[in-house]
Amino acid sequence: MNVRPAPAATLIFPAVNRLATDYWRTARLVGEPVVLAASVAGDATSFDGQAVLRLPMVHEAGFGSEFLALIRKHAISRIFCPVASVYSHLQTWLPAHGLTVELLGDSPIRRQVKQHGELMAQARSLRSWMSSCAAGAEVLPEIEVAGLLRQAALVYGESSDEKLAAMIAIAASAPAGDLVEIGALMGRTALVLLYLARRYQIGPLLTVDPWQAVHAIHHDSPANIGRLVDEWDYELLAEAFFVNLAPWSGNDHAHLRMPSVQAFAVYSDGLPIATRESVVVPFSRRIAILHVDGNHDHAAVKQDCELWVSRLLPGGWLILDDYQWAHGDGPRRVGNELLEACSQRIERAFVCGKAMFIKLGAEPAGEG
Ligand SMILES: C[S@@+](CC[C@H](N)C(=O)[O-])C[C@H]1O[C@@H](n2cnc3c(N)ncnc32)[C@H](O)[C@@H]1O
Repeated sequence: MNVRPAPAATLIFPAVNRLATDYWRTARLVGEPVVLAASVAGDATSFDGQAVLRLPMVHEAGFGSEFLALIRKHAISRIFCPVASVYSHLQTWLPAHGLTVELLGDSPIRRQVKQHGELMAQARSLRSWMSSCAAGAEVLPEIEVAGLLRQAALVYGESSDEKLAAMIAIAASAPAGDLVEIGALMGRTALVLLYLARRYQIGPLLTVDPWQAVHAIHHDSPANIGRLVDEWDYELLAEAFFVNLAPWSGNDHAHLRMPSVQAFAVYSDGLPIATRESVVVPFSRRIAILHVDGNHDHAAVKQDCELWVSRLLPGGWLILDDYQWAHGDGPRRVGNELLEACSQRIERAFVCGKAMFIKLGAEPAGEG
């Protein structure tokens, strides 16, 4: 009788940290057979009940024989090693023992070095054009731009590096006033806005999002896009937003969990708006930077702009998300209508990272 050989597997060793669980999850997703091993006892729940085999420490006497036995028994052809010291040991140990097992990727340290290099290169490349958005104002140093991009990248969201870079640039020329974001999702853009608000002493930040499926549906978009809203757990989304902003929290940020129309009534009527700790935030009710990124249906974007742009200060910036959008033309139509209606007041306008940026001057005498 022929016994079929076990399929070649990847060994995750030592399976003890986040890099290990991340690799294991991806491997499961793509059906890659994985064997787990470690030299110390870890959290048994990390791998959904999959056994973690025990090996001696790499410098202990029994390591070599037990490691070789494990490799043969499980037909290991590749090793993912998420610990720098063990990686470095295996790098010499494997060839010294004539093993052709592949050590996957870079060492954890080299990976950090590479990631940091890529981040700085991205910040440098974005900074090379950011001054053209900054209306003559000085752009933040490379280190700060990179730091903001890094923090923003930790949060799931829809603002690209290009759009965030343009936001960082325009903040330098914003007048003093409130910052308002309509549509906050998990807070990727909000945390950048909050940093900029403090950095340039612009004013407090108001974020608005009802986190409710009924408001998130895009009726104008193809059904498969509209249906994405069902995938969210909206209470989790709200919690995740506050978790993501917690390290940055202060008495200069408040959130209104309601649709933008309702929030506008609260804002424009001068009703108190408080932080999560119930401290009333001193909003001036005049906006320096407005980010419209809520529901993208034409009617919704139009209403958001009609309401909130009326509160924009002379010299204030409107950022209209997804002016270029693959799933509908609501933001583009509203953007074009606005450009036409406000043509006398436009100090600057450009599209970056698919968003439209407009700096509006004072209304001409006799209007408004
Ligand atoms: C594209 S996401 C926002 C992305 C976010 N600005 C970021 O930085 O990742 C759109 C958000 O708009 C919110 N939204 C939908 N309808 C809204 C409304 N009427 N008022 C305010 N927010 C709304 C949704 O709940 C969703 O979180």
